Amino acid sequence: MNTVLEVTNLEQKFQLTKTYLDSLKIRKGRLVRERKICHAVNGISFKVAEGETFSLVGESGCGKSTTARTVIKLLEPHGGKIVFNGTDITNLSRRQFLPFRKQIQMIFQDPYASLNPRDKVIDIVTAPMLLHNIVKSKKEAFDLGVEIFRKVGIREEQVSRFPHQFSGGQRQRIGIARALAVNPSFIVADEPVSALDVSIQAQILNLLMDLQSEFGFSYLFIAHDLAVVRHISNFIGVMYLGMIVEQGTKQHIFENPKHPYTEALLASTPRITGDNLDKSKPVTGEIPSPVDLPSGCYFHDRCPYVKPECREIMPPEKEVERGHWVSCHLY
Ligand SMILES: Nc1ncnc2c1ncn2[C@@H]1O[C@H](COP(=O)(O)OP(=O)(O)OP(=O)(O)O)[C@@H](O)[C@H]1O
Ligand code: SF4
Ligand SMILES: [Mg+2]
Repeated sequence: MNTVLEVTNLEQKFQLTKTYLDSLKIRKGRLVRERKICHAVNGISFKVAEGETFSLVGESGCGKSTTARTVIKLLEPHGGKIVFNGTDITNLSRRQFLPFRKQIQMIFQDPYASLNPRDKVIDIVTAPMLLHNIVKSKKEAFDLGVEIFRKVGIREEQVSRFPHQFSGGQRQRIGIARALAVNPSFIVADEPVSALDVSIQAQILNLLMDLQSEFGFSYLFIAHDLAVVRHISNFIGVMYLGMIVEQGTKQHIFENPKHPYTEALLASTPRITGDNLDKSKPVTGEIPSPVDLPSGCYFHDRCPYVKPECREIMPPEKEVERGHWVSCHLY
């Protein structure tokens, strides 16, 4: 299977202290200069294969969206390497990156916020086709737009309506149609179902999977909930404080989880027990601040298996079985 995206040791930081004056602090009676930096992504590596789905999962603030935005170069990386379809895109300028823009599309959590309320939905989908010269005329764009809408479950008589005339699930279908308009090979879906009712979530996930089977593109899929990534993923990376602490196939993560954080996430994932939704054992404690990273293993304050070395030494990533990687001193 060809690799579409290979990310190696990716780092992303945000400078929180914007001005020189902001950085001046009085410590023990002396004026000192302190700069606050948010270490959002701290050296993560993963690969996404052609036609497959790699999911990033983890609690709010662990750096999932920042990773996605850096990979597609909405943010310049602070370190590491990004290779897309064999080309190193890490240091490409915006202009140099333009030819890749069309191949890489994004689906957002809140489709309403990303759809222009004043545009008819057909125009939302045909504008990128015309911009990227995928079609030769407005008539051709309209016909292709209607065809794409049909594939995502929006009927032709609905395409001249405005975004507010659709339900949340239908608006996400429009967001998906817009991504499909330029025939991408790679789609980043950042929490695409988190804002939807549970009953609608499954429909949208099934639609995303059907479209992948038909068109063969790859997904970088993002969710905070393991239950959501369960069906759609081939590979999963579990993120904690800007690192991937465990990654492997869906079977590795669900049937043979190794990292204590993955175990905790699985324990807090809703399961159907009889007719009841069992939502016991959430991960306890707070995720530490990425502005002040802990020493050693970043999970040590919350880990039930913590050992003295965990507080001092960052555990290296180890392959515990073929294709299954874990960063933990237990292994
Ligand atoms: N533009 C920014 N400036 C400063 N800090 C930022 C910026 N964007 C993100 N961060 C910080 O980076 C860290 C990671 O944020 P990110 O949005 O990537 O997390 P996430 O895993 O996507 O969370 P969520 O599940 O809530 O969407 C957070 O501490 C966040 O506050
Ligand atoms: S390295 Fe130590 S603290 Fe970190 S997850 Fe493993 S056992 Fe827990
Ligand atoms: Mg996010």
